[in-house]
Amino acid sequence: MTNQNLLNRSMQAVWHPCTQMKQHEAYPLVPISHGEGVWLTDTDGKRYLDTVSSWWVNLFGHNNPRIKEAIKQQLDTLEHVILAGFTHEPVVELSEKLAKLTGLGHAFYASDGASATEIALKMSFHYWRNSGKPKKINFISLQHSYHGETLGALSVTDVAIFKDTYAPLLRQSAQMPSPDFRFATAGESEEAFALRCADALETYIAEHAHELAAFIVEPLIQCAAGMGMYHPIYLQRAREICTKYQVHLIADEIAVGFGRTGTMFACEQGSIKPDFMCLSKGITGGYLPLSVVLATDEIFQAFYDDIIARGFLHSHSYTGNPLACSAALVTLAIFESDNILAKNQEKAAYVNSKMQVLTDLPIDYLRHQGMIWAFDVRANNPKFSKDCYAQALQQGLLLRPIGNTVYWMPPYIINEAEIDFMVEKTYQAIKNSI
Ligand SMILES: Cc1ncc(COP(=O)(O)O)c(C=O)c1O
Repeated sequence: MTNQNLLNRSMQAVWHPCTQMKQHEAYPLVPISHGEGVWLTDTDGKRYLDTVSSWWVNLFGHNNPRIKEAIKQQLDTLEHVILAGFTHEPVVELSEKLAKLTGLGHAFYASDGASATEIALKMSFHYWRNSGKPKKINFISLQHSYHGETLGALSVTDVAIFKDTYAPLLRQSAQMPSPDFRFATAGESEEAFALRCADALETYIAEHAHELAAFIVEPLIQCAAGMGMYHPIYLQRAREICTKYQVHLIADEIAVGFGRTGTMFACEQGSIKPDFMCLSKGITGGYLPLSVVLATDEIFQAFYDDIIARGFLHSHSYTGNPLACSAALVTLAIFESDNILAKNQEKAAYVNSKMQVLTDLPIDYLRHQGMIWAFDVRANNPKFSKDCYAQALQQGLLLRPIGNTVYWMPPYIINEAEIDFMVEKTYQAIKNSI
């Protein structure tokens, strides 16, 4: 099967995500035949280093023997069963483990990130209704936030290119100043800026608490906004403010959970416990679709009743799929047995030392947090993002700039030689496209 053949068929039959399909006339699809570690290989045998972990999901490499084996074993016993009225070992064990890791003891499952956002929003609203506060129906989020693309998730997302077209279909939500330190004024520290943004949050919440159900936030890094990073003091203040005014805090850790920011969950760095935590992406090591909303006992108890309509009657067919849960369980096991968080610190130090070479290029805000690196390129080329992507492919990298922000979010198993390759080829790709 040649690249050309497969991509022609794909253009006819597959409607690709997040894509103006016509652009593929100029920027052809890349047909992938297999993966191994950090590498993807196309149908002509060319290899690409997956610097974006296949949309931020892959943690321990493609074709990972331990994850494959766990899924195979699960396949031999139970592939799927309805989770309404039934249960099974992998979903119970996973829920217990996540409760232990987060302190949030009730796990509600779905299959993708946007569904987790929907669930958290609906649960928050329904909690207040069950608690005799039916006027608390509104949500707030940060400027430049991204929480997914279904209608409810999009209504708390603040990225114009995804949102504007669908505006007539969406509920209104207010956006709070983003603590992303790129927006700080000259000379203002990251912490002072975060505190200033938190003050604005408090001013808004103090005035609107009676009608607010929840504040949803991406802890520490607004990834889709171009890896906008901020000081953890913001999370601490957001928690205090939400508690003070009785507004739920929803931590959307869909992109940053499972070690991406250096700790297992980003909330740990603000020493906070949210009312809801949304998880997905890395939860199965990038193997199978799974998402979960974790909630506190207090939330759960507000639904526990003889009246059916006070229960949370939301559902998805594949809720708690055993194969996906088995992938998630082995992913957690690998974190523990292989001491991943400590090893990632060593890897991060290596990337940090290597990436200094990029300062030769016209870049701003070279930044890093955990296993995410980013910088903003001052390019004259208005098509920088697309051209850099295409140049990187030629160099053997899957690199997807967000606007003029170039970032790396590689699988955690990347080794030093592969880091060298990633840095060198990124440098070349940028040089050839600015
Ligand atoms: C913070 C955040 N929330 C939600 C989502 C949506 O997840 P999904 O694409 O699985 O629907 C994403 C996806 O990038 C995300 O980064």
